[in-house]
Amino acid sequence: MSHRILLLHGPNLNLLGTREPGIYGQETLAQIDEAVQAEGRSLGAEVRTLQSNHEGALVDAIHQGREWAQGLVINPGALTHYSIALRDALSAVALPAVEVHLSNVHAREEFRHHSVIAPVCVGQIAGFGAFSYVLGLRALLHYLQKKHPAQ
Ligand code: DQA
Repeated sequence: MSHRILLLHGPNLNLLGTREPGIYGQETLAQIDEAVQAEGRSLGAEVRTLQSNHEGALVDAIHQGREWAQGLVINPGALTHYSIALRDALSAVALPAVEVHLSNVHAREEFRHHSVIAPVCVGQIAGFGAFSYVLGLRALLHYLQKKHPAQ
C-alpha cells in the first residue's frame, strides 16, 4: 500500500545548513527533503514537501493537504510554541500528524519546552538532528499501517 505524506517546515528552516549549525546541524533543507523522500520511496510512500516563513501559508498547505495527503510530518519551527492557528488547522483537517524537531527542545530555553501543536499530533520526535525527520516519517507510516493494514 502506498501512502501520500505531506512534509511541512516552518519559519527559518530554509536557512538550515548555515543557521546555528551547532544546534541544527550542517544539512540543508534540500538535503533533508531528499533524505525523507528517499526513505519514503524505500517504504512505498510519496512525500511532498513545503517550507514557509508564513503562518497563513502553512495553514493553507494543511487545508490543501486534505485533498491529497493521508498524513503530515511537520516541523513548525518557532510556531510550535505559540501558533493556535496552526494547531486549529491540524485539528480541523484531522489528518494524523507527527511533530518533529531537529534539536531537543526540552533541553533548551524554557519557552521551547511547551508545544501547542503536540496535543493534536500522534506524537513528537525531537533531538536527532536531520534524522528526526526520517524517524518522524517512519513513525507516521507505522501509525497509518496499523490503522489501515494492507489486505
Ligand atoms: C525547531 C525548534 C524551535 O524551537 C525553533 O524555533 C526552530 C527549530 C527545531 O527543529 O529544533 O525554528 O523546531
